[in-house]
Amino acid sequence: MQSKAYQNIVILTGAGISAESGIRTFRADDGLWENHNIEDVATPEGYQRDPKLVHEFYNHRRHQLQQPYIQPNPAHEALANLSQHFTGNVTIVTQNIDDLHERAGVSDIIHMHGELLKVRCPHTQQTLDWREDVSAADLCNCCQFPEPLRPHVVWFGEMPLYLDRIYHQLSQTDLFISIGTSGSVYPAAGFVQEAASNGAHTIEVNLQASEISHQFKEIRQGSAGELVPALVAELLAN
Ligand code: NAD
Ligand code: APR
Repeated sequence: MQSKAYQNIVILTGAGISAESGIRTFRADDGLWENHNIEDVATPEGYQRDPKLVHEFYNHRRHQLQQPYIQPNPAHEALANLSQHFTGNVTIVTQNIDDLHERAGVSDIIHMHGELLKVRCPHTQQTLDWREDVSAADLCNCCQFPEPLRPHVVWFGEMPLYLDRIYHQLSQTDLFISIGTSGSVYPAAGFVQEAASNGAHTIEVNLQASEISHQFKEIRQGSAGELVPALVAELLAN
């Protein structure tokens, strides 16, 4: 890493940062998308065809997330430490729908692909905390003619959330760090180019080469649980 003090850091995390917490990634050999048909459980069309199946899929994932052995790992904790103690700005954007960044102590996390522990009204977009199994029969309480609640998750073909805020931060950043993402889903996969075109230094942390590794100025290959605490220590020391 360049020996300079950064002022505006943007960090993008993906499924890889939660792998060491016991949550399976999407595209590994044993990944979620190897065992489920994306078109059935992660598209608006799949939800229209069979809302019960889609709710069952997310309810199962919610119960998994609440198992006592699923806890933030040293990478989540290091990023929380950075967000609390870095003297400049730190913006953490995650593609993950789990709540491990929050549980580690990040108070302002941008969930661009939504949140597993929320549901929302498809009409007003008003979100509610998920409390128990949501079925296709549960209705919102914000509309005159109540609508069935849907998972607060961005599906394939839908617009990710908070893009204006994210692109604004990317236009200001002098250091962009991507952690544990395969770089196969846009627009998140395009953030590195956006940051680099504004002059930022760019670092990828991943177990292996991603689809977009060649776009980064610096590669740190290895597990997030080991490499992120070391990277954060460097940033806090500068
Ligand atoms: P996408 O890259 O097509 O875009 C995601 C959404 O964000 C779209 O609704 C798009 O309109 C919006 N968007 C893109 N750039 C934007 C920007 N700069 N500002 C605002 N909004 C923007 O993602 P997708 O629809 O999720 O699919 C990505 C590709 O992956 C597609 O080609 C799809 O066929 C394929 N796919 C792969 C898998 C897989 O896991 N292997 C699964 C489903 C789809
Ligand atoms: N440390 C660092 N990187 C890791 C680790 C680890 N311990 N374990 C796995 N990885 C890396 C893998 O090498 C892979 O590049 O994490 C990446 C995970 O990639 P994906 O499973 O494709 O997950 P992600 O990039 O977050 O997926 C993006 O796709 O299906 C959609 O909406 C969903 O947000 C998701 C998006």
